[in-house]
Amino acid sequence: MSEQPAEAAALAAALGPLAQRIGSITYLHTVDSTNAELLRRGVTGDRAQVLIADAQSAGRGRLGRSWISPPGASLYLSLARRLRIDARQAPALTLVAGVACAEALSALGVDRIGLKWPNDLVIEARKLGGILVESATGGDGLAVVIGIGINLALPGEAAAAIDQPWTDLARVLGPAGPGRAAVAAAVLSLLLPALDEFERTGFSSFASRYAALDALRGRPVRLEDGRGGHTGLALGLAENGALRVRHEDGERRYLSGEVRVRASS
Ligand code: BTN
Repeated sequence: MSEQPAEAAALAAALGPLAQRIGSITYLHTVDSTNAELLRRGVTGDRAQVLIADAQSAGRGRLGRSWISPPGASLYLSLARRLRIDARQAPALTLVAGVACAEALSALGVDRIGLKWPNDLVIEARKLGGILVESATGGDGLAVVIGIGINLALPGEAAAAIDQPWTDLARVLGPAGPGRAAVAAAVLSLLLPALDEFERTGFSSFASRYAALDALRGRPVRLEDGRGGHTGLALGLAENGALRVRHEDGERRYLSGEVRVRASS
């Protein structure tokens, strides 16, 4: 788990004055999961803690799935912060982080980037990355760890183990595309102000930004929960970030974590 201080210093330099809003930036060669490590360290203080790893041995995905994390293939980044929000707002935080990541990728030249509710970064139905927010109770406000995985250049062996359509930045932008440090700097420079804004105003000020990136709205979807699958038409998001779906028997709203979504044809 050795640290790489030169990489951390380069990221701080790329962030400029925003780096002052970060309490610590740590790069590790390998860790089980950047989210798990920040949760173990504890989320204290007013400033964000950022952890990036070359590889994860037990990367975590949503709904208990694993996140394949070979060395250097993706950005594995977690940010921990205490937010003055209610635990009920935590699901919307995933959406806010998604907006920040998608806008950052767009600024780096990624066309047609979209968000597949609740946590996928997609390009034309191919997954480019995902977000996993975990929270811890205790102390003031809510301690959150926002984990971000963005595929940079997946080796064939790792890609073969992914059970859904995927893509990576090397395929999208070619070999001259941004490297891990540039992607991390772009993401953090939008995520840090987004967290402040979310604390002040909640999800409402992100609703139109999300809508511009919504890859599901107007599409047939299949939602799966413990009781089976339900098909319907995605109608966009409610004011609290819940997914609105029109079913044959009327509209229902789904909060993050309750369902799996598959865009169907
Ligand atoms: C998903 O799409 O299921 C969410 C994937 C989140 C992966 C990232 S990689 C960095 C951070 N550490 C983890 O263990 N998971 C997140």
